[in-house]
Amino acid sequence: MNNTDKQTLHARDSVEQALRLGVNIDHVATVRNARGEVHPDPVRAALIAEQAGADGITAHLREDRRHICDADIAAIRAAIRIPLNFEMAATAEMVALAVDTLPNSACIVPERREEVTTEGGLAAAGHERRLAKLLAPIKEAGIRLSLFVEASEMEIRAAAAIGADIIELHTGRYCHDTERRGDELVRLANAAKLAHGLGLECHAGHGLDYDTVSAVAAIPEIVELNIGHFLIGESIFSGLPAAIARMRELMRLART
Ligand code: PXP
Repeated sequence: MNNTDKQTLHARDSVEQALRLGVNIDHVATVRNARGEVHPDPVRAALIAEQAGADGITAHLREDRRHICDADIAAIRAAIRIPLNFEMAATAEMVALAVDTLPNSACIVPERREEVTTEGGLAAAGHERRLAKLLAPIKEAGIRLSLFVEASEMEIRAAAAIGADIIELHTGRYCHDTERRGDELVRLANAAKLAHGLGLECHAGHGLDYDTVSAVAAIPEIVELNIGHFLIGESIFSGLPAAIARMRELMRLART
């Protein structure tokens, strides 16, 4: 290999490093819970994802424990070597659990019992003081604080005021509203630029699949995508390592 080839490979590696893939394994637990037994095991999924090149594992401990349960979080934390991103509602119970678990990051999401999934971003604007106080123990414990928000200037500025280290942009509207997809993409790109300018690390996720990932992955300020439902569903057909490999390849191509 000559020097130019080596430089090209090196440049490609550093671009690849610049966009991480977090794999959300919640729906492995959804399938397990359908039978109330122990199979399939989300810890095993997390380890397979780690081996297949995931940069992090995300798990959402919902108030109603409909998929991931407390024991899963502890077991995943103990088993994996890559970062754990703990998704949680802004409640005192969850803050205490986060401080007890010590994940690498805690991503604060809105939660309504009747919703099927996290349907929108957190309402941070107007609640800065309350949220900063409630979430302070997370920051004091050295856990990186992430807020899951819509691509809205008001919410991003509120996240900065609360002291978040990271914002995760909700890509649901971009993925699902095909007629307005172009506008939504512009909103996401502008939001990522604003977040970066405010010193916030910018992540994105929700609803991403092989068809929708590339345009989001191409936004240069976004450094991490969190993807769950599609990857776990696709793994039924192709296996989890192959699904992760294909997603990573699409992300790499979008970035280069
Ligand atoms: N990021 C956050 C904050 C989420 O709440 C979810 C859904 O749990 C995801 C990413 C992943 O979304 P999906 O499962 O649709 O890929």
